[in-house]
Amino acid sequence: MSFKINDRVTWVGKTDWELRNFHGEEYSTHKGSSYNSYLIRDEKIVLIDTVWKPFAKEFVANLKKEIDLNKIDYIIANHAEVDHSGALPELMKEIPNVPIYCTKNGVKSLKGHYHEDWNFVEVKTGDILDIGKNKLVFIEARMLHWPDSMFTYMTGDNILFSNDAFGQHYASEFMYNDLVDQDELYKEAIKYYANILTPFSPLVIKKIEEVVKLNVPLDMICTSHGIIWRDNPLQIVNKYMEWANKYKENQVTLVYDTMWDATRIMAESIAQGIKNVDPSVNVKLYNSAKTDKNDIITEVFKSKAILVGSSTINKGILSSVASILEMIKGLEFKEKKAAAFGSYGWSGESVKIINEELNKAGFQVIGNGLKELWIPDEEGIKRAIEFGEDLARNI
Ligand code: FEO
Repeated sequence: MSFKINDRVTWVGKTDWELRNFHGEEYSTHKGSSYNSYLIRDEKIVLIDTVWKPFAKEFVANLKKEIDLNKIDYIIANHAEVDHSGALPELMKEIPNVPIYCTKNGVKSLKGHYHEDWNFVEVKTGDILDIGKNKLVFIEARMLHWPDSMFTYMTGDNILFSNDAFGQHYASEFMYNDLVDQDELYKEAIKYYANILTPFSPLVIKKIEEVVKLNVPLDMICTSHGIIWRDNPLQIVNKYMEWANKYKENQVTLVYDTMWDATRIMAESIAQGIKNVDPSVNVKLYNSAKTDKNDIITEVFKSKAILVGSSTINKGILSSVASILEMIKGLEFKEKKAAAFGSYGWSGESVKIINEELNKAGFQVIGNGLKELWIPDEEGIKRAIEFGEDLARNI
């Protein structure tokens, strides 16, 4: 499948309806994804990015239906990660001498992945490739989200080929932002930001400010995953600015795991306490053993405070809580508050361990947390409600 975006640009990527996990098992893709590749027909013929390796043969076969491969003058590799470069080996077998334009780090990454000495051309911010009527302007986007990441802007048609930035893991037959369900689209866009871009937020702000200063017209943002932003493309740029700026909603999220319901009872009682003090706050509860981890991360991203709870097991915490805390630590959330809770039968280390992890993750930890011995009785439930009430007053 391919489709024309305008007279000059054709989408030649792959929609992956079946994808359910990405980055190994690190990112759940409930809605599949797409690997967007674009063919530009100006006086010169340019291919921007390719697709993931499992679809390499299909990609090259489809591309041949679009164009005689020998007519391709330039390949642009905006990003070396295999979901975009994975079809390069198959393609380069056919056209081994075509220059591949990418950043200096892109050369390193592509060589590291494929161990091939292709005809690389290193580019940096501001470099221009004249392709006829239009020009391609390169903008390095280091650490958004890999060292090699780059945007390519096409003058004339005013298209930003942004690669991962502004993308979503979202397969849809309607390839434009104005044609898809807006709730679905933004659910996937914020999940993508929360789970992938959060640690790079200061760089997101800097890069957007840099691009805005260029004061160039923007008619479309062609991402490498999901839909193309053509209806008011600045909407997603503005959203990124909002998300990058220590984003939080009036939400408190409780993430816990429980062995015999004691920690669950604590979670529900704490939630009740929070609501007693502030009925307007959106309190959400997730059992980390039963909920998709990336969906939990998205809820953490939206929260002004989180509570993390675990029973004590073998002087430690339950593995699903340990796993989500590890993810939270890596994402470097800013200006969020947190507290710990958990039940125990004899040794009771869980709350202390969770507090330590939350501190390491950069959260402002409130108090020492709440521990309950065995199953909370009436008094225990009262203590948990009061704990929630105190917490609500502190956030
Ligand atoms: Fe979609 Fe960083 O690759």
